[in-house]
Amino acid sequence: MASVTLEKVRKDYGAVRVLHAVDLEIADGEFVVLVGPSGCGKSTLLRMIAGLEEASGGEIRIGERVVNDVAPKDRDIAMVFQSYALYPHMDVSKNMGFSLLLKKAQKTTIDARVDGAAKRLGLDSFLQRLPRQLSGGQRQRVAMGRAIVRDPKVFLFDEPLSNLDAKLRVHMRAEIKALHQQLKTTSVYVTHDQIEAMTMADRIVVMHDGMIQQVGAPLDLYDRPANMFVAGFIGSPGMNFLPATVRNGGKSDAVLADGQTLRLPDGLPLKDGDAITVGLRPEHIRLAHDGAQGEVVVVEPLGLSTQFYVKLAGQLLCVFAMGRAGVKPGDIVRLSADPASLHLFDPKSGDRIG
Ligand SMILES: Nc1ncnc2c1ncn2[C@@H]1O[C@H](COP(=O)(O)OP(=O)(O)O)[C@@H](O)[C@H]1O
Ligand SMILES: [Mg+2]
Repeated sequence: MASVTLEKVRKDYGAVRVLHAVDLEIADGEFVVLVGPSGCGKSTLLRMIAGLEEASGGEIRIGERVVNDVAPKDRDIAMVFQSYALYPHMDVSKNMGFSLLLKKAQKTTIDARVDGAAKRLGLDSFLQRLPRQLSGGQRQRVAMGRAIVRDPKVFLFDEPLSNLDAKLRVHMRAEIKALHQQLKTTSVYVTHDQIEAMTMADRIVVMHDGMIQQVGAPLDLYDRPANMFVAGFIGSPGMNFLPATVRNGGKSDAVLADGQTLRLPDGLPLKDGDAITVGLRPEHIRLAHDGAQGEVVVVEPLGLSTQFYVKLAGQLLCVFAMGRAGVKPGDIVRLSADPASLHLFDPKSGDRIG
């Protein structure tokens, strides 16, 4: 096992910079998830750690060793791809053992490692099958098994569950997490899916446009997003944003576009007349007797919970309630939220206030 350190790591394709001076320290044994929308540079960063792409600048270390000029096969990493990349003509056992065969390991060692990985992954009865005789989930397990038998210092995963159906994805993410709890191998996992990031990560790295936006434990990002990008990306359903103006009396209020007000938390650096953006998580909004008034537009009953949308101050606000909300389209409702649950942002920079 080993730590992974990135210092001012850049990537340029010709004149286009796709990664800007990325600094990141991943501790030995940590499970770190890189998350962000498609095209933000996640795969490029992962492939640079693997050695499949050259860094245009900066330093990459695995443990104490600088690996910028080390070939992928000598970096002691194992990568699992979305496409699985299995050898179609080799059975499961050969697919899993092949990298050890290349390293000229002894047959008894290879058999023992393949057996161990197959048991761990529930593949023992499939060892003689070819990839085309397996389901998508089983193929994904073989790809994981192939990584495990190498006993690498670092696992690198690039969207490994994206080709699976929703139910299997939920199952496999729990399996990968359980596997990490057993093996404790340093892991860097790329996904565009914030729920995967929230459920699997020790720490999440949120990326956007080739830059790290915030690094933190899942609930730290949820509780204190550093900017509107992270606030909107982490959490499902996503945070609502309302443009407002500060009005300072004895207490501070946010005056919304239609003149209705929301009580703001105390102790923030806000001046009368400041333009702000108020962030409200759907799960922090309640139906109330007082509060801002709006009209219910759409109701989405999910059984366990209900999501509904309310037209308020010119915006469509998503509200999340456990169980049944007892509202229908056309209802006029009042909504309130605990001031402490509000997130305030500078509308120009998008940065968190306070
Ligand atoms: N070989 C390449 N040549 C030019 N641009 C590339 C190349 N590979 C990736 N890019 C660009 O780099 C950016 C980041 O890509 P990528 O790392 O694949 O994003 P992600 O994995 O987050 O979806 C994208 O804008 C993509 O178009
Ligand atoms: Mg990618």
